[in-house]
Amino acid sequence: MCGIVAAVADRNIISVLLEGLRRLEYRGYDSAGLALINEKGLHRLRAVGRVAELTAQAEESRAGGNTGIAHTRWATHGVPCERNAHPHISGGLAVVHNGIIENHEALRMRLKGEGYEFTSDTDTEVVAHLIASELKKTPDFFAATRAAIAELQGAYALAVLRESEPDRVIVAREGSPLLLGLSAEGNYAASDASALLQVTRRIVYLDNGDCAELTRTGYRITRVDGTPVTHAETETHLSADAVELGQYRHYMQKEIFEQPVALANTLEMLGTARSIQPGLFGANSEAVLKEIRQVLIIACGTSYHAGLVARYWLEALAGVPCNVEVASEYRYRESVADPQTLVVTLSQSGETADTLAALQHAKSLGMRHTLCICNVPESSLVRENTLRFITRAGPEIGVASTKAFTTQLAALYLLTLIIAKLRGRLFAETESAELQHLRHLPVAVSRVLELEPQIREWAEHFAMKQDALFLGRGRHYPIALEGALKLKEITYIHAEAYPAGELKHGPLALVDKEMPVIAVAPNDVLLEKLKSNLQEVRARGGELYVFADADSEIAATEGVHLLRLPEHYGQLSALLHVVPLQLLAYHVALVRGTDVDKPRNLAKSVTVE
Ligand code: M6R
Repeated sequence: MCGIVAAVADRNIISVLLEGLRRLEYRGYDSAGLALINEKGLHRLRAVGRVAELTAQAEESRAGGNTGIAHTRWATHGVPCERNAHPHISGGLAVVHNGIIENHEALRMRLKGEGYEFTSDTDTEVVAHLIASELKKTPDFFAATRAAIAELQGAYALAVLRESEPDRVIVAREGSPLLLGLSAEGNYAASDASALLQVTRRIVYLDNGDCAELTRTGYRITRVDGTPVTHAETETHLSADAVELGQYRHYMQKEIFEQPVALANTLEMLGTARSIQPGLFGANSEAVLKEIRQVLIIACGTSYHAGLVARYWLEALAGVPCNVEVASEYRYRESVADPQTLVVTLSQSGETADTLAALQHAKSLGMRHTLCICNVPESSLVRENTLRFITRAGPEIGVASTKAFTTQLAALYLLTLIIAKLRGRLFAETESAELQHLRHLPVAVSRVLELEPQIREWAEHFAMKQDALFLGRGRHYPIALEGALKLKEITYIHAEAYPAGELKHGPLALVDKEMPVIAVAPNDVLLEKLKSNLQEVRARGGELYVFADADSEIAATEGVHLLRLPEHYGQLSALLHVVPLQLLAYHVALVRGTDVDKPRNLAKSVTVE
């Protein structure tokens, strides 16, 4: 939520700031702004809407300078408008911020008492005035900024510049991501490395509680109290192409079609082995996985749905009890902890505030065996877990998560197989067959993607609808949930998902001829039950759209549209059946003309509570 770029260099950095914001736009996109220092002093530009609006303003005003900070916003405090857009200014200071300052009201009262005037509704403006106030007591810019930061409660990544010190930028991190980028011609900071690939691959990751001072020729990092710290410099291997659209119209479309490669990369470590190594989840994983008595999965959104699928696998195949919790609920619930639990956090970004806080909560209850499955190796979540598995989906830019989900499922299936093996429930022949099945997944997903033309036709039927109902049973119920989430997220059609057996307990009342009902119907032990539930829908005039597989005995009839996935995929069928639902949401969005990659009100990385 919100993206930050900062630069101090021997060159005009306006293009670095704007290109950096463009790369970070997935983090928030309701307004954007920047502040520059040049020979004429401090210059601020702000625009409501996309970074493109800001770029147009910058071009028109021929803005330029050697030092600057920039921001793309996802509104928390105050509606999206120019007045609330960052940077916020106090005297000759400018500040950009990602996160939430929880004690902003108390600070605002105090600063008003000191005579500071507020021009926005944001929590961020207090930071600008607070630093200005500290500078009256502590003339050193870095020290005054740290003194102000010491008073802040909440989460923040901050970048600050001062008109009277044109060669310095101060940054700080607590709970929101921030890293430094180093180069011979200048130094930079950003919310993620993709924003800086244009100028450098040399990265220094900041820890929570770090502050840093950047100049053209160097940088220094301290804790908030001024104690110096050093962090190793690393080289990012992020590919610049990986964040480009290439031949695709939208990132979501690109990411849906990248799933075969993402799965192949994630499963690459299996090689041609006939047996699976417990060490895949970290050096000590075999000992930990032998010791655990149950699994607790914590996640949000799409990652939560991956956890729900995994519960079916872990209980049925590995025989280990499993609970799945929504992170924002778990962190505040008074629950009963078993120290022999494996706590599994799932996250594409590794920066989701609720998931991070829920993990801390689980640890505080005495659960020390922690594993995260995450797509971003340098993320906060990866650093907080003792065991880890990095999915190799590549950067996911579209707000609607797709390839992160299928690669999470692949990782969770591997985890299931390992726990099953350690518990004596996986015999050599089955193990080898399971691995073969996993290796075939990229090909199986490619074949499902070939159904796109038929799904595009179906999308036309949905485009004018107000509501849709998704049904599934067993491990395909979470797939129905995921299909409904995708549809509502990018098309704004109201969509609900139910386990099909629940229909008659209430939701059937919604069904009439206007209500499209989407059923996830692979051939599994619950198929016959599902078919009865679908009859209940047909009897009320509901129009059915059924995603069956090669073996499902279902026929297309009047009011029953049928699409068959090419293969029957047993336990892993959930992984294939989500793909047509992603495509359906994508094509309905195209027909409705919504902003596929940047749906209204949302952001990719949810770093606030
Ligand atoms: O980065 P995370 O996996 O932790 O994100 C969790 C959710 O915010 C995310 O899955 C969200 O629901 C997606 N926009 C769904 O498409």
